[in-house]
Amino acid sequence: MILFETRNRITNPVEEISPFMRDVIEGLRKTPKELPCKYFYDERGSILFTQICQIAEYYITRTEIRLLEQILPEVADLIGENATIVEYGSGEGRKIRNLLHSLPNPKAYVPIDISAEILLDSARKLRKEFPTLALYPQVADYSSPVSLPTAVTEHDSGKRVVFFPGSTLSNFSPAEANAFFCNLHSFLRPCDGLLLGADLIKSPNRLHQAYNDYDGVTAEFNLNILQRINRELRGNFKLHQFEHYAFFNPVLSRIEMHLISLIDQTVKIGPHHFSFSQGETIHTENSYKFSLDSITRLGQNCGFSHLRAWTDGEKLFSIHYLQAV
Ligand code: AVI
Repeated sequence: MILFETRNRITNPVEEISPFMRDVIEGLRKTPKELPCKYFYDERGSILFTQICQIAEYYITRTEIRLLEQILPEVADLIGENATIVEYGSGEGRKIRNLLHSLPNPKAYVPIDISAEILLDSARKLRKEFPTLALYPQVADYSSPVSLPTAVTEHDSGKRVVFFPGSTLSNFSPAEANAFFCNLHSFLRPCDGLLLGADLIKSPNRLHQAYNDYDGVTAEFNLNILQRINRELRGNFKLHQFEHYAFFNPVLSRIEMHLISLIDQTVKIGPHHFSFSQGETIHTENSYKFSLDSITRLGQNCGFSHLRAWTDGEKLFSIHYLQAV
């Protein structure tokens, strides 16, 4: 067997390298450096994100919950009886509870999440609250194509409706968003639906505040990805030598989050070395902001007709109902 010598240790070329390690190495070898935002969500990252959803400056979660509560009767009319609701990224559960309570006799609920723990926990709670609802939790990374279990596809008489709240679509690149919509369309039938939450373009200052909160929770959330690399991949990032930096890019309609190196430094991750010059950035997240028209166009590109859009009074956030044609 051939062994390769790297700077510090001997590695076996067929040794399994984890997807996390592979993505981190690939991302930090790019110019400019980047890390995929899906790695924010370890246990601490998920707790920090829950805190972000409650901070004063982060209007998204609160505004969407209020708006959804107001429009539920109209949404229920559009969806109708015996529906199967497929939720991407099932999260804390308040929005789905409200939706299920408003629907006439919902038949099945298919929560899809990358975390088995979150799925089982939410399924346990929902089983008590909705004893007649069929539950089919699916562990999957929904940034890749997902298919529905046959138990669902063989027996659903009402509409299939995909529920994708929280503006999670914001964290997809335009190409990923397009692929996501087209994949959804491939397992929906004519007249099935997509209920989508999307954050809107607004005053850059308002956006800036939402991603630069006074208490620094978003900064901690951003820096936590380095701590996760230290812990899980034997990294030696010194967190105080990096700074959270988030700004609105009006040309690309997106908030960009970065971690900026405060000094020239070299960081080790397992056997790999990465050098940073002072001021160099790691691009950690994009959060795209949409117009009502941009969501309509995204849907039309993949075979959806846009039936309704609702916004709150300040036009901070939007909810859309699109129908597969
Ligand atoms: C999950 N996602 C929609 C959040 C957003 O606003 O893009 C993630 C986030 N990043 C910083 N704050 C919140």
